[in-house]
Amino acid sequence: MDQAEKLRKIVSEQNIPRRTSRVITVTSGKGGVGKSSIAVNLAIALSRLGKKVVILDADFGLANIEIMLGIRPIFNLADLMFRGKSLSDIITMGPENIGFISGGSGIQELTNLTKDQIVYMIRKLVELDRTADIIIIDTGAGIDDSVLEFVAASSEVLLIATPEPTSITDAYALLKTLKRKSEFSIADTTIKMITNKVTPDEDGEEIFEKLNIVVNRFLKIKMVYMGHIPVDKAVSKSVMKQRPAIVEYPNSEFSRLITGFARQLCDAEPENTQGKKGIAQLFTNLLKSRIR
Ligand SMILES: Nc1ncnc2c1ncn2[C@@H]1O[C@H](COP(=O)(O)OP(=O)(O)OP(=O)(O)O)[C@@H](O)[C@H]1O
Ligand SMILES: [Mg+2]
Repeated sequence: MDQAEKLRKIVSEQNIPRRTSRVITVTSGKGGVGKSSIAVNLAIALSRLGKKVVILDADFGLANIEIMLGIRPIFNLADLMFRGKSLSDIITMGPENIGFISGGSGIQELTNLTKDQIVYMIRKLVELDRTADIIIIDTGAGIDDSVLEFVAASSEVLLIATPEPTSITDAYALLKTLKRKSEFSIADTTIKMITNKVTPDEDGEEIFEKLNIVVNRFLKIKMVYMGHIPVDKAVSKSVMKQRPAIVEYPNSEFSRLITGFARQLCDAEPENTQGKKGIAQLFTNLLKSRIR
């Protein structure tokens, strides 16, 4: 049995629980379109609807979520993987009962795990599946190959794009590359799209429709439109204050829309039949795809 086969056996032997979290991966083709802002505020809105929510910051670049929440976690995913930290050590509590896990260097280092480290990590993620209702994964922009693998391993993807032409073409490019990934399954993946930073003379739905037509025709990927968010000063001001907009400006247009998206997501609770569902399963898929 070669190394790759051995590892495949280990991950497939880990019992993935029946009770899994719903994982929503937030991504985009182009950077700076509002992924982290939407991820953080959506997490709080979902928490207000009674869900136990944990955000996983899988962006290897800037510590976006930390800055937005104004909290600094002591440990990250790499501490769980390599230094035996427990799940409660790496989950920092944020505003309104949301949990936050910083990926740190952990996500890049998934290829460097020993058998024991893999077993330990999957066990801990199974624990997380038992406790969290929803896990929101904030990724970097989708140009990076490791971001794409993350998206490919997720069953529910929230694609954010702005009306800028480059944002739309990059969103298309992301989906096109995604389709080539072995872990991506069209049948098991729902792509929900939000157009963000829409100005009064732009039409968010029309932008979605145009993208959807080409995505449907050339990639045969089904997308669902969630809605649009206008440019709202509440978002940029709250970033400066390091307090989420939904907490600081609860009556803003942005906060009202995010609350609506949270309700929409709760109403469209996916059935537990999707093969990739749950965080332990997602990492298992990810590990399998990284075994060479
Ligand atoms: N609806 C909005 N109205 C006004 N400003 C917004 C809106 N959404 C996001 N922004 C601003 O755009 C900037 C980028 O947002 P954010 O960091 O959430 O994007 P991102 O996609 O996570 O970026 P990155 O790709 O760097 O991780 C921030 O300054 C934020 O305040
Ligand atoms: Mg971000």
